[in-house]
Amino acid sequence: MNHLIAPSLLSADFSHLAQDIEMINRSEADWLHLDIMDGVFVPNISFGFPVLKHVARLCTKPLDVHLMIVQTEKFIPEVKELGAMMMNVHYEACTHLHKVIGAIHEAGMKAGVTLNPSTPVCLLKDVICDVDMVLLMSVNPGFGGQKFIEHTIDKVKELRELIESTGSKALIEIDGGVNLDTGKRLVDAGADVLVAGNTVFKADDREAMIHALKNL
Ligand code: DX5
Ligand code: ZN
Repeated sequence: MNHLIAPSLLSADFSHLAQDIEMINRSEADWLHLDIMDGVFVPNISFGFPVLKHVARLCTKPLDVHLMIVQTEKFIPEVKELGAMMMNVHYEACTHLHKVIGAIHEAGMKAGVTLNPSTPVCLLKDVICDVDMVLLMSVNPGFGGQKFIEHTIDKVKELRELIESTGSKALIEIDGGVNLDTGKRLVDAGADVLVAGNTVFKADDREAMIHALKNL
């Protein structure tokens, strides 16, 4: 399958959100990636459901919601209410991960599990056949515009092996420091979906950058 591009709204111009979402709608972006932070699980706060309900109304692309919060399971109804296609929860924030994955599916969404840079891929062995996607963080979550952690390339290869050896259908998504160079190497290593914040929104021609990321 050709890889997918999910621009991250975190790097958009929050004073012109509607315009930036229209740009995403016009572009070749496959999904819109939404980063929800609580200032507890990560050292930053982004935006919450009162803002996202307007984003969801304006956006025509599937919503890929990335929750960087504690007690993620409490917010399954709110994420469903947005009409999200994918709900990503952090491995590190879910004591009962298997149960949370089941609850996300029951709510009618696809379930993604996210790993921080320090969390090894092997910990997913017992849930890999239950998830629709694994989101590997290639920076420590909390902020856009950080430097890509090179070790992620090895993690993508290891995850690809785990998926193939178990017959899992999970997609591999990467988030953090993705640009034309790291993006190409990630796709070559086996990534299916690339999240890109700064690379897209700080580009002179944002639609052209999305086109370039689609055609690595
Ligand atoms: C970071 C977020 C990312 C962020 C990526 O915690 O999960 O989605 O927007 O930003 P870039 O692409 O600029 O590294
Ligand atoms: Zn993210």
